[in-house]
Amino acid sequence: MTERATPLPAPLSAPLSLVADGPLRGRVKVPGDKSISHRALMLSALAVGRSEIDGLLEGEDVLATAAAMRAMGAGVARDSTGRWQVDGVGVGSLLQPAPALDMGNSGTSTRLLMGLLASHPITATFIGDASLSKRPMGRVIAPLGRMGAEFQASPGGRLPLMLRGAERPLPLRYRLPVASAQVKSAILLAGLNIGAETVVEEPIATRDHSERMLKGFGADLSVEPLDGGGKLIAVRGWAELKPQKLVVPGDPSSAGFPMVAALIVPGSDILIEGVGLNPTRDGLVRVLQMMGGDIVAENPREVGGEPVADLRVRHSVLKGIEVPPDVAPSMIDEYPILFVAATMAEGRTVMRGIEELRVKESDRIAAMAAGLRAAGVTVEELEDGLIVEGSGGSKPAGGATVATHLDHRIAMSFAVLSLMTRAPVIVDDRAPISTSFPDFLPLLLGLGARELSISS
Ligand code: S3P
Repeated sequence: MTERATPLPAPLSAPLSLVADGPLRGRVKVPGDKSISHRALMLSALAVGRSEIDGLLEGEDVLATAAAMRAMGAGVARDSTGRWQVDGVGVGSLLQPAPALDMGNSGTSTRLLMGLLASHPITATFIGDASLSKRPMGRVIAPLGRMGAEFQASPGGRLPLMLRGAERPLPLRYRLPVASAQVKSAILLAGLNIGAETVVEEPIATRDHSERMLKGFGADLSVEPLDGGGKLIAVRGWAELKPQKLVVPGDPSSAGFPMVAALIVPGSDILIEGVGLNPTRDGLVRVLQMMGGDIVAENPREVGGEPVADLRVRHSVLKGIEVPPDVAPSMIDEYPILFVAATMAEGRTVMRGIEELRVKESDRIAAMAAGLRAAGVTVEELEDGLIVEGSGGSKPAGGATVATHLDHRIAMSFAVLSLMTRAPVIVDDRAPISTSFPDFLPLLLGLGARELSISS
């Protein structure tokens, strides 16, 4: 039951610390968007025929999705040019996966695939790493259970978990109790194999890649705006999905790391090419600009149905602000790196309404507060947020080893902080970075950062 679909190569576990000897300079390209990459593989596997995907993120999370789609009958292969080809089997035709589906560190793979399988007569076991095995799955089990799927989960609604998809799935009308694109997407994907209308009401808009891409693949989907900024999304299943040629834009979440690095290292001036700026994802850029960050979107264009631009980022004197809580859904993964930007700002930055950070790959409020404190930054941890006292540009003390808790974004955030501390900040483990940004280190080194050699 715990045999793996495809063993993933174990990334190198080693500490990491960086130094900025001078300004960061140059042009870089961040990897493909993680959310879009997962959906590209899943929807291509459900289309009838061959889809092609350029710019797919080849991080471990997305490779876990690729392995799962393969285990359920889709042909998923990468050619020598880096283009991915997916031979889809059609909605309703997924096969029962023989081994357990190993989701690694990936909450998105897990929750979206649980949705997909909930309306197929398939039994599957989901397993994951220690971080994923702590994350709550009840938020998808509840609605998918109402659609007829059955679950045997570990205590607290966690992985390992066995799902028995419904023979005769029921349509659902569901109001999201948490602002979660994963829960929304799980229900919409389940709705694809139901010959009636499934409706999700989201009172607060979250990333809309599923809606955009489902429409692009030919699903029968409508979106209606609600008063107060929310949306009503309806999908009528059993439409045949048509194979697509997809181009994945650069991930704005990954772009956040070089962006903040350039803002805080004096004299820096960089260009990050092809960054996705979907309005449900661009909150970090808007907040950093509110703080006085010199970030200019150049050459705006459309890639794969998403707004994209090149971001020119120059070192800036940042000012602490009260970050409006309603921006949170559009930058939920970017708070750890925003905390780092706040450490260098003039005055205090107050961030509230982000309790969801406590159930990400780690408790990101606690993990960041602990590491920042250890590095000499004054922070106040709130139940739903963090207050950071900025240094006004002077370097924090550093001189600490910080724990990443199997969380890629914690690892990268502290690696960026390490550029600007008086004594080294050492990230205890660089391995999690490969889940979303395998080229993070070469990219920063290419901009002029130096890796500190750490003797063990
Ligand atoms: C994601 C949604 C967000 C985000 C995650 C990716 C997605 O999670 O944190 O990294 O691709 O739908 P939630 O739905 O839990 O907010």
